[in-house]
Amino acid sequence: MPELLKLDKITKYYGNKSSLTKAVDNISFDVQPEEFVAIMGASGSGKTTMLNCIATIDKVTGGHIYLQGQDITMLKGNALNAFRREELGFVFQDFNLLDTMTGFENIALALQIQNVKPAQIEERVMAIAEQLNIKEILNKYPSQMSGGQKQRVASARAIVTEPKLILADEPTGALDSKSARMLLECFRKMNRELKATILMVTHDAFTASYASRVLFLKDGKLFHEFYRGDDTRKQFFDKIIQVVSLLGGDVNDVI
Ligand SMILES: Nc1ncnc2c1ncn2[C@@H]1O[C@H](COP(=O)(O)OP(=O)(O)OP(=O)(O)O)[C@@H](O)[C@H]1O
Ligand SMILES: [Mg+2]
Repeated sequence: MPELLKLDKITKYYGNKSSLTKAVDNISFDVQPEEFVAIMGASGSGKTTMLNCIATIDKVTGGHIYLQGQDITMLKGNALNAFRREELGFVFQDFNLLDTMTGFENIALALQIQNVKPAQIEERVMAIAEQLNIKEILNKYPSQMSGGQKQRVASARAIVTEPKLILADEPTGALDSKSARMLLECFRKMNRELKATILMVTHDAFTASYASRVLFLKDGKLFHEFYRGDDTRKQFFDKIIQVVSLLGGDVNDVI
């Protein structure tokens, strides 16, 4: 299968010659369709910067990013807006739900923007709500939801448009362990049953253990990667912890 996403020698520099930060320093890797990839690394290693470049929120300093063969670093204006709207789903740590809209309306909005017919909108929102176990909270406003419920509504909004790629930055960062588990089960479902390709930044080994591959960044560079293969989640979790300590990191940084 041809790759879904290809990063080709991506760099992102901040500052000027006298104080240059190489936030992303010559990173290349491919993501296959239906992969679930976790990106780990210490604070400041470039995870968010790299994700934001793929999300086209940030502009790369050098290199190219291809989604199904299309160079997204070259997109501008309407083509860029359409790309973000049609091809990507974002899940941010701070949810980004609209407070004056119910859960249902927040999710439906993503479809309205795509001009989906009203009759279809209801059907699709209900189908995704069933999958992510949020039917009971669709009539609630974000202020009436728990953190975990908000995160699942935000995830439903990201997936309901059936984007080619879901990008998530520390999706469990603000959640207690039970809510984190539920969200990760949602991600696993989106990946396995809805065939979503997911790229998820996390510094948490438990969260990463839900993925099928883990990439480690260090000082803006791709440092190491490994696949889950036939391991159970628990076995994969133990390996991630092992690798983190082998790589000289402090395990406490990542759990
Ligand atoms: N807008 C900016 N201007 C200047 N430097 C920046 C900017 N954004 C990020 N950086 C620098 O780029 C490097 C990578 O930052 P980034 O936010 O990608 O790290 P991260 O791996 O996501 O860290 P964390 O785990 O703390 O979220 C850091 O050294 C940071 O200080
Ligand atoms: Mg970050």
